[in-house]
Amino acid sequence: MAEEMRIVLRNVGKISPLKIDEYIKAGGYKSLAKARSMSQIDLIEEVKKSGLRGRGGAGFNCGMKWSFSYKIDTDQKYVVCNADEGEPGTYKDRIIMENDPQSLLEGMAICGYAIGSNKGYIYCRGEYPYVVETLNKAIAQAKDKGVLGDFDIEVRMGAGAYVCGEESALIESIEGHRGEPRFKPPFPPVEGLWGKPTIVNNVETFANIPAILEKGADWYKGIGASSYPGTKVLTLTGDVVNRTYFEVPTNVTIREVIYGLGGGMVNGKNFKAVQIGGTSGGFIPEEFLDTPIDFDSMTTIGAVLGSGAVFVMDETRDIVDIVDRISKFFEHESCGKCTPCREGTKRMHEMMHRINKGSGTVGVMDLLQNLGNVMSVACLCGLGQAAPAPVLSTLKHFKLEFNAKLN
Ligand SMILES: Cc1cc2nc3c(=O)[nH]c(=O)nc-3n(C[C@H](O)[C@H](O)[C@H](O)COP(=O)(O)O)c2cc1C
Repeated sequence: MAEEMRIVLRNVGKISPLKIDEYIKAGGYKSLAKARSMSQIDLIEEVKKSGLRGRGGAGFNCGMKWSFSYKIDTDQKYVVCNADEGEPGTYKDRIIMENDPQSLLEGMAICGYAIGSNKGYIYCRGEYPYVVETLNKAIAQAKDKGVLGDFDIEVRMGAGAYVCGEESALIESIEGHRGEPRFKPPFPPVEGLWGKPTIVNNVETFANIPAILEKGADWYKGIGASSYPGTKVLTLTGDVVNRTYFEVPTNVTIREVIYGLGGGMVNGKNFKAVQIGGTSGGFIPEEFLDTPIDFDSMTTIGAVLGSGAVFVMDETRDIVDIVDRISKFFEHESCGKCTPCREGTKRMHEMMHRINKGSGTVGVMDLLQNLGNVMSVACLCGLGQAAPAPVLSTLKHFKLEFNAKLN
């Protein structure tokens, strides 16, 4: 069965988050010094070689992203940490920031040196005011110690919109505008905050960086799945015994997560489905439980690793009712900028609700399928593109439950 492997959470429970000296004693800020002794190109190559891919959902190669901003010659560049963590069932970034904020600051400062930026922002969700306090204290300590050099970091708070986790909407929000996604390209590494090259990375992505520099790209590349190396912090919720967080190598299977570290199903009930990656993740039936959790393996079964939320459902759960509620969430969170999402999430919820309440027909199910297919390609950003995933995956794997509710 799977065992935990702590890279990102290496200091959790071992040091005090508000005592920078304890972080330094544990080896902290050595990696930043090492990074600064390297050329920017060598540093970016090392991160690229490690194979580290974004932990916020899209799974883009981190070093490659940094290289895009590095190449641009301009007066100002930015490093932004995405700590919006609006995905229901996800709280991994909170665990990192609450317990080991300096590792995030160190990772951001390394990125700043790599791309040639002296300014960083942490965009933290508004529902985490105490985390913001911890971050501000940690930043003040790092400045006092002088460990960040000329790299400055400020915290910005979100106001509760799910879409503000999408990197371009997040940038709009930091700029003081309404949180709506931008048309891409240009992508943020080329044209981001105030039109300047901007690296947006997730908290967990940045927290991996000091360990990679300390132990080397080859060490990191050898851990977990070869196409998505390293570990992933997962947060377990639902009908599983251990509703907590774990950090595991990326080649563990979903079954190992649920029945190993997760301790199995509550009250010995039978498993029905698991949704991984948050609300926009597909529903996975029992037949796929032996799939590794890494990004690419999940894609092959029509699911996503996403933020690493693992929501387990037992045999008593009503799948159609759950998807009805999820579609309501997307209707509520759609920012309304593009028509396929603004109208699509509303109609999708209407149809799901009709089916759930017993007044749906086969025709409604066909329409729902069609709408989902269109939205996944026509919506402007990942919110609308991924919103149909729970509907489409349950129509595929749990159609009998839909049929049972038809009029
Ligand atoms: C609707 C929506 C919400 C998102 N929420 C988050 C979030 O809360 N945290 C996050 O890191 N990325 C989130 N993302 C992904 C970001 O757009 C972006 O890919 C990520 O911050 C890049 O960092 P990474 O490469 O380190 O993963 C979201 C994307 C979408 C479409």
